Amino acid sequence: QVVVDPDTTDAFKAAEHLGREYCLRVTGRVRNRPAGTVNTNLRSGKVELLATALEVLNESATPPFALDEDVGEEVRLKYRYIDLRRDVMQKRLRLRHSITRAMRSYLDDAGFVDLETPMLTKATPEGARDYLVPSRVQPGKFFALPQSPQIFKQLLMMSGFDRYYQIVRCFRDEDLRADRQPEFTQLDVETSFLTQGQIMDLMEGLTRFVFKRVLDTDLPDPFPRLTYDEAMRRYASDKPDLRIDLELVDVADLVRDCEFKVFAGPATDPEGRVAALRVPKGSELTRKQIDDYGVFVGRYGAKGLAYIKVNDASKPNDQGLQSPIVKFLPEGVLREILARTGAGDGDLVFFGADKAKVVNDALGALRAKVGHERGLAQGRWKPLWVVDFPMFEQDDETGAWSARHHPFTAPKDGHEDRFATDPGNALAKAYDVVLNGWEIGGGSVRIHRPEVQAKVFEALAISPEDQRRKFGFLLDALSYGAPPHGGIAFGLDRMATLMCGAESIREVIAFPKTQRGQDLLVDAPSVATEQQLRDLHIKVRPTDAVKP
Ligand code: AMO
Ligand code: AMP
Repeated sequence: QVVVDPDTTDAFKAAEHLGREYCLRVTGRVRNRPAGTVNTNLRSGKVELLATALEVLNESATPPFALDEDVGEEVRLKYRYIDLRRDVMQKRLRLRHSITRAMRSYLDDAGFVDLETPMLTKATPEGARDYLVPSRVQPGKFFALPQSPQIFKQLLMMSGFDRYYQIVRCFRDEDLRADRQPEFTQLDVETSFLTQGQIMDLMEGLTRFVFKRVLDTDLPDPFPRLTYDEAMRRYASDKPDLRIDLELVDVADLVRDCEFKVFAGPATDPEGRVAALRVPKGSELTRKQIDDYGVFVGRYGAKGLAYIKVNDASKPNDQGLQSPIVKFLPEGVLREILARTGAGDGDLVFFGADKAKVVNDALGALRAKVGHERGLAQGRWKPLWVVDFPMFEQDDETGAWSARHHPFTAPKDGHEDRFATDPGNALAKAYDVVLNGWEIGGGSVRIHRPEVQAKVFEALAISPEDQRRKFGFLLDALSYGAPPHGGIAFGLDRMATLMCGAESIREVIAFPKTQRGQDLLVDAPSVATEQQLRDLHIKVRPTDAVKP
């Protein structure tokens, strides 16, 4: 608070013409605020500045919105430089800086070297599309922007830098969501000679250190560890929000012979799953609320959402239970379902029955939604590791196998024998760090022997010619005494979002892209001039071309 006294004539005159967002220089004396004007909500609320001189360094046009006004994100992003003046945005970006400071401090002290890797490079497979950059001097050729520094950090291990890190921009042309941006920042780490357990311990230590430094919070020591299989079974998610104390229960064995085909079908399908989710006090849910949850799981491909309300378990089922499916299920089966889910009076049990993938997508999301909406989330921070991921995943439509993490991930010992016969059951030395339902980091032990790497490429149906063309340099490098190595990358934007308590990663990035991948501030992407395109040897197809 600045106070200008009419006695200081020049300052008072200048003050009369001030507007919002003017940039000023004020000279004066700090004094206690007079009684009645103290604002206990402000850190500086007990004092004020009595101005002796006031100079306008720059005027401001009428700003598009006031800093305390609630405006839409489009406007905020178009005038981001004003949006960032807001207190909350200042705090978020400064907190982000304190996170990177803490990370550097931990890693520097642990003997890591900060090294840069190329931005104009060759495609690195992380499962997204590449951003391509045309070369002017090599007509018809393109660089790719890195989806991650993955291959280069591995090459650095082969170059004798046994502990590397980089806070680095990555580029992925993929569909955007609240936790995804086309360019985002990783804390990227790689080490030589460490086992999976040693890498995880070191990185868990880093996470704890950052939370302690930045938020003065003690994360659990150690983080719980779940296998991928267990995470899917209990939470139907590979990034479960452990603040929610709800678990799924499998009931396929109970319903495989019942006349209700909706359940019996998936129960007898080797790729099917029938699972139940108990919601404590869920019988309070209205028909409308249950229908809305049905619509919600529909977005994940579920064809319905069967439920049972337990009104009075002591009565016969047709009186004590309220449900559209009770009539299809024998008394004994219903009793067993209630026993297995632990459902008692006042509870509700939801069911998912379909291909396992659909059930997991639907019930995994439902568990989180119901859990938060019903106030079942407990605790502030629930980190965990998910380990033993499958090496490969299969495309539903084409049947083709792809790497679940990336193709440089090492199989668990002995699991390379499964590549040819049973690729779906080959597990990887891969691990994710999950926090409150967000995947904040992921890494793996890498393949360091060329023949194993070739086997993985083969399992991914990458022909020997393509292996040479795309990754020949890596196979060569592996053949010159590459050390065993492994690492991880943390999503800095995601960590910052969680630590700020923000809703979207756009809130912790100074100049983010919109959901449609645009920068509204500078108006990018935009149309290139004919001359630029000519220099780059590029012709835009007329059907794709948009008017400037
Ligand atoms: P991965 O692809 O799992 O692994 O990425 C690591 C972490 O980066 C974050 N992340 C993203 N954040 C914002 N927007 C995106 N589009 C986005 N994509 C990923 C996530 C994720 O956990 N090279 C490997 C790491 C390694 O194996 O060492 C990699 O990139 O928090
Ligand atoms: P229907 O026989 O289609 O009327 O379904 C009876 C009940 O089962 C309804 O409550 C549906 O919402 C539910 N339902 C139908 N298909 C599924 C499914 N695949 N998984 C879970 N519940 C389902």
